[in-house]
Amino acid sequence: MASGIAHQLNNPLSNIYTSCQILLEEIEESDVNVVREMLQQIGSEVERAKSLVHSLLEFSKKREFEKEPHTLKTLVEETIGFIKGDVPAKVGIRSEIPEDIFICVDKQRFQQAILNIITNAIDAIPDEGEVRIEAEEDLSQKTVEIRNQDTGLGIEQENLKRIFEPFFTTKKDKKGTGLGLFVANEIIKEHEGVIDVESELGIGTTFKIRLPIKEI
Ligand SMILES: Nc1ncnc2c1ncn2[C@@H]1O[C@H](COP(=O)(O)OP(=O)(O)OP(=O)(O)O)[C@@H](O)[C@H]1O
Ligand SMILES: [Mg+2]
Repeated sequence: MASGIAHQLNNPLSNIYTSCQILLEEIEESDVNVVREMLQQIGSEVERAKSLVHSLLEFSKKREFEKEPHTLKTLVEETIGFIKGDVPAKVGIRSEIPEDIFICVDKQRFQQAILNIITNAIDAIPDEGEVRIEAEEDLSQKTVEIRNQDTGLGIEQENLKRIFEPFFTTKKDKKGTGLGLFVANEIIKEHEGVIDVESELGIGTTFKIRLPIKEI
């Protein structure tokens, strides 16, 4: 993974370096608008590098997982609350989770995993659409299934098998790091759970998280 990180960090850094060189060479004869544009580009490359480093730091924190019982509905609704302000007006987020489902998770990490999946769903909706989060217990299997369904663009078949790879992203202009699903998957695995995905182009995507129910 280290060479992947090095490569990913190298891109924004070389862009920043090149822009600085150009600015230095041409500063006297440069138009102020061109200078402004280059500085903006530098700023956004710095953002990209910062966001990459931030995700890695979050992920590599060596804190032990602290699993405790929580109400699923509260965990999910709190998570939605974190991003409420950033959701475009035409994207509806609906959570339909029974109140009596309890799961034993590391709250912060579990919410991080859910957040990464919800943010992707929002990103996938170009204009108007809906993200719906539902959950259901399967008492015979002793599992709970959490479904995150969006009416977004869907995922191309050839990308479907790559989305959990670290650094796989199709969001070049939006500065995606490609770490969101990798991190979500690692967190769910750490809870002995699995993530499945079903997607249809032009219809939408559903992520299904299945977690074991622990007797509390
Ligand atoms: N709900 C979704 N609908 C359509 N495509 C998706 C969805 N979720 C993930 N993807 C695809 O999977 C890729 C990887 O997702 P991941 O969250 O790992 O990275 P990212 O979103 O590109 O970057 P970051 O999470 O750092 O913003 C995305 O770039 C996108 O192509
Ligand atoms: Mg993402």
